[in-house]
Amino acid sequence: MIVSEKTEEQLLEQIQRIEPFVGNTPLFPINNAFQKPGIKIYAKLEWQQLGGSVKARPAFNIMKNAIINGQLNKERHLLDASSGNTAIAYAAIGAALGIPVTICLPENASEERKILLRAHGAHIVYTSKFGSTDEAQEKALELFNENPDKYFYADQYGNENNWQAHYNTTAFEIFKQTESRISHFVTGLGTTGSFVGNSRRLKELNPDIQLISLEPDSALHGLEGWKHLETAKVPRIYDATIANENLEIDTSEAYFWVKKVAQTEGILISPSAGANLAGAIKVAQELDEGVIVTLFPDNADKYGEVLNQLF
Ligand SMILES: Cc1ncc(COP(=O)(O)O)c(C=O)c1O
Repeated sequence: MIVSEKTEEQLLEQIQRIEPFVGNTPLFPINNAFQKPGIKIYAKLEWQQLGGSVKARPAFNIMKNAIINGQLNKERHLLDASSGNTAIAYAAIGAALGIPVTICLPENASEERKILLRAHGAHIVYTSKFGSTDEAQEKALELFNENPDKYFYADQYGNENNWQAHYNTTAFEIFKQTESRISHFVTGLGTTGSFVGNSRRLKELNPDIQLISLEPDSALHGLEGWKHLETAKVPRIYDATIANENLEIDTSEAYFWVKKVAQTEGILISPSAGANLAGAIKVAQELDEGVIVTLFPDNADKYGEVLNQLF
């Protein structure tokens, strides 16, 4: 057997070894922070996987498919733009597989995120804090065009393996964990992979399930990971025909629920998780009965500045 075939086989074995640590997250019942007769709200605790966020699912699926297709290996860097969670997931999975990772990151990403990326050995290319992830995306594309042989450009905003990760894993988990009783799925839009992938599969499993997407209420918001689609670059994987309804969430509402959940449920969640719960509760307020499911994309570990402000 020639050496490169052996390395490829070893990589595929490594992928199989880490796969059980991606997905399979618990479904948490909101018992105390909000109560209404006839309504149940559940949240998937998505930080309980490799890399500590919902982004383990798309990052793993993107990397796995690129390795299988021969686009990514131990010599060719994975390259992408990310405001943090996807980058950390790529870096963690890259470390486990021995694959180099280069990330274009807006310089105002939190210190905790930068430390996590460095800890996993990622190479970071900083972009302006004024340009958000849109500018980071342009930088990644520029680096790729300059040196296409060095990089596999993962392009999470346009990569079908992003939403398909949720279509093939998260949605089935939700359906099973609610014993098919889910009536509403609610989640925020970032790359839009979580909303698009879960929604497409849930609608196939039960066409009556209502799909509600969430957005920040303005371009200047504090919901890390979310996009204000009216003013930002719309991700290529987004499908505007899916949502039955789209609601806007104010950052202060998200903070209110972060506090409430910390004090009544015993878990400390991120701002975007608080915003998802705010959206689920808005939906609950309009219903007499229902089983509403949302995602808690990550916990508060990377949000020291917000926690200092809140507590
Ligand atoms: C904290 C957080 N919340 C929500 C999202 C949005 O998820 P998606 O990109 O699947 O739309 C992200 C995405 O990066 C995120 O990091």
